[in-house]
Amino acid sequence: MKKILVVFGTRPEAIKMAPVIQELKKEEDWYETRVCVTAQHREMLDQVLDIFKINPDYDLNIMQPDQNLDEVVSKILIKLKSVLHDFQPDLVLVHGDTITTFSASLAAYLKKIKVGHVEAGLRTGDLFSPWPEEGNRKLTSVLANYHFAPTTLSKNNLLNEGIDESKIFITGNSVIDALQIIVNRIKDDKRLKFNIEKRIKKSGFIDFDSKYILVTGHRRENFGQGMQNICESLKFLAEKNPNINFLYPVHLNPNVRKPVNDLLSDVSNIKIVEPFEYEEFVYLMCKSYFILTDSGGIQEEAPSLGKPVLVMRDKTERPEAIESGTVKLVGSDKSKIVKEVQSLLDNYEEYQKMCKAINPYGDGKTSKRIAEILKD
Ligand code: UD1
Ligand code: UDP
Repeated sequence: MKKILVVFGTRPEAIKMAPVIQELKKEEDWYETRVCVTAQHREMLDQVLDIFKINPDYDLNIMQPDQNLDEVVSKILIKLKSVLHDFQPDLVLVHGDTITTFSASLAAYLKKIKVGHVEAGLRTGDLFSPWPEEGNRKLTSVLANYHFAPTTLSKNNLLNEGIDESKIFITGNSVIDALQIIVNRIKDDKRLKFNIEKRIKKSGFIDFDSKYILVTGHRRENFGQGMQNICESLKFLAEKNPNINFLYPVHLNPNVRKPVNDLLSDVSNIKIVEPFEYEEFVYLMCKSYFILTDSGGIQEEAPSLGKPVLVMRDKTERPEAIESGTVKLVGSDKSKIVKEVQSLLDNYEEYQKMCKAINPYGDGKTSKRIAEILKD
């Protein structure tokens, strides 16, 4: 029997690893699966663990307010070492591009333990955009033995870097598995839908049947001037379009919260709220008019729901949905954000073109594929 240690630390990793853990745990004859959270995030991670009923076997509990990345790396290396010593896994499974992803891969490599990388091969080609995610992903690729690439494009990125083709598997992205689990849960359960609406109302946002734009923004490369530009654009747009609501669940990073609260808290049609649990957020994505974000995961989920997305970044490692026409890059420049949001609000034909539901990132069976491949 193979011993697999699944390691993750932040909200998006938890969402995307939850279905993978579910599938591995179903295969009890093949795998002994244990879960280790670094808790690079705390509250935002726990929200997801709760929704998917995951009880970690190990919790490194490393998060500090306004943490430094070098400290996060060193804490993970030191604390994970004893977990690896205790469990002696055959494989460490990591996800994506966070500092947890890279640090856990390095910790495993230093113990000569194999690494499986879920969501491998996404690239912008610019080490500083997104930063430090592009570097984390590339460094993890160097250390990994199994590369689970979501698309042909991500496989080709890995081949171009000299990764052995026999180690690359196109599986789709498990974010679509997670999204489908939640969408089906809500669809099949009237009581849950009622409770989700109740919890959203508790957050202070009561107009979810109105026309609203769902906003998120937290990228490190946008800290400072980028966040300032994003907030100023939102203020301008909200004042120009008093009939539109802007709903902004704000990431718990203090470098995000300060400019958002300073610049936007007194604009009447911008609702600043705490991060939503995943069920609520999926429900709100479905009901929104469109989404304005710099998030990676939301760029993958929204096309599947038929929701247009404007991405406040200069480059994206997820170009597939841009090619399909449901996602558009608008940068973090104030005039560009304002122009593109206003044009999507004003031009119904353009809006409808972006509303088609497509699934460039997966069919909801990614986790099953990964659990099958690892049997070999
Ligand atoms: C991290 C990832 C980023 C990912 C994002 C998802 C890195 C370098 N960055 O960025 O790739 O897109 O998560 O959200 O790995 N905080 C809390 N509670 C929480 C979470 C965060 O208080 O539950 C605050 C803390 O003050 C913490 C700070 O946010 O120190 C920053 O957290 P960190 O994980 O270092 O960076 P993120 O910006 O969240
Ligand atoms: N999300 C959530 N609650 C929120 C905002 C986002 O559950 O209030 C989900 C979202 O659906 C997506 C993931 O969190 O699956 C994205 O996480 P984040 O934006 O923190 O990170 P990124 O995707 O940019 O790495």
